[in-house]
Amino acid sequence: MSDTWAERASRALLENYYPARLTLVRGEGCRVFDDAGLSYLDLIGGIAVNSLGHCHPAIVRAIREQCGTLMHVSNLYRNPWSVRLAEELAARVPGTRAFFCNSGAEANEAAIKLVRRHAHLKFGAARHVIISAEASFHGRTFAALTATGQPKYREGFEPLVPGFRYVPFGDLAALEAAVTGEVCAVLLEPIQGESGVRVPPQGYLAGAAKLCAERGALLVFDEVQTGLGRTGTFLACEAEGVLPDVVTLSKSLGGGIPLGAMLARGEAARAFVPGSHASTFGGNPVACAAALAFLETLDADKLLDRVRETGDWFMDALRRLATLQPKITGVRGRGLLIAVDLAVPAKPVALAAEARGYLVNAVQENSLRFAPPFIVTREELTGFLAVLEEILHQE
Ligand SMILES: Cc1ncc(COP(=O)(O)O)c(C=O)c1O
Repeated sequence: MSDTWAERASRALLENYYPARLTLVRGEGCRVFDDAGLSYLDLIGGIAVNSLGHCHPAIVRAIREQCGTLMHVSNLYRNPWSVRLAEELAARVPGTRAFFCNSGAEANEAAIKLVRRHAHLKFGAARHVIISAEASFHGRTFAALTATGQPKYREGFEPLVPGFRYVPFGDLAALEAAVTGEVCAVLLEPIQGESGVRVPPQGYLAGAAKLCAERGALLVFDEVQTGLGRTGTFLACEAEGVLPDVVTLSKSLGGGIPLGAMLARGEAARAFVPGSHASTFGGNPVACAAALAFLETLDADKLLDRVRETGDWFMDALRRLATLQPKITGVRGRGLLIAVDLAVPAKPVALAAEARGYLVNAVQENSLRFAPPFIVTREELTGFLAVLEEILHQE
């Protein structure tokens, strides 16, 4: 077959993704390679997935070993790797127990079912409303999509799941007014990722936790994008000293292998009983072995310190560039989850960066997002800053 990958993809795959310019065939550390052999510095890291970089030796070793030992058993049986992973997560997020699934949307789906069931058991069916934030993103399955506070993703899929309401993100007074007697849970991203790395005002998460505790609603943090060290602490909510009742994780967790987790503590952890929820591949030994290697490397290589140091340095450097280049109108983020606002459309800038060997994401009309591997170096980022300056000069 002599057709290009682009031609074959346009015939063979459904058209739910915008057509890509690149076909990537290999990855190593912070770099990926296309089918023409060109190399790119990956500053978006599979959208916050490849946090140890591509094909990290510890992850590859763990997966290889596990593939030769046990790849899959059903949840009719126990497997040691899922138990060990749940223990390791509980060591980092105290008091929690885990449910494993395969993606961020599934983790949120599980959380939504858990909070509904918790309220059913405790208060009865009337208390079923879930509050989420405008501009949030929680995934594409039906309940996660309904929780997603962006009408553009929900359009055409109605009727959605009943019982969801939205509040402006970062506005504690609005949340206070919304958490009425019908509300069973509040679901929030500690920093909104897909809507452009929006950091709420200091005190918002702690205020939400206090409010939920006072009114008997559960608090769920969707840390699918922000969790697992991305913002410089294991969970982003640690920055405010807050621990919710339920946390959802995915993206980085499997080191590139699909894996999601819902962690629950206290009363919330008792709402599921045998038969309440399940996933065929949830707790898969290969995915869990990869996740164990990810967590071990995170600690052994002191990567949380590195995320904080590199992230602070990169944000300072972007702010310095903004003083010289007025087309950068804002810089925000935490750790290695960073966005810049531009006075020009972001997409052409991302494409120009791609043509010069840098992968970045035009997350919004006028914003670029960076979620590079935790191992990215200052030298690599300095190379990108020079290219960004050059592109913006020409735009
Ligand atoms: C905060 C958040 N929640 C949920 C999801 C959905 O995850 P997945 O695409 O694995 O279903 C994403 C994906 O970007 C996300 O950023």
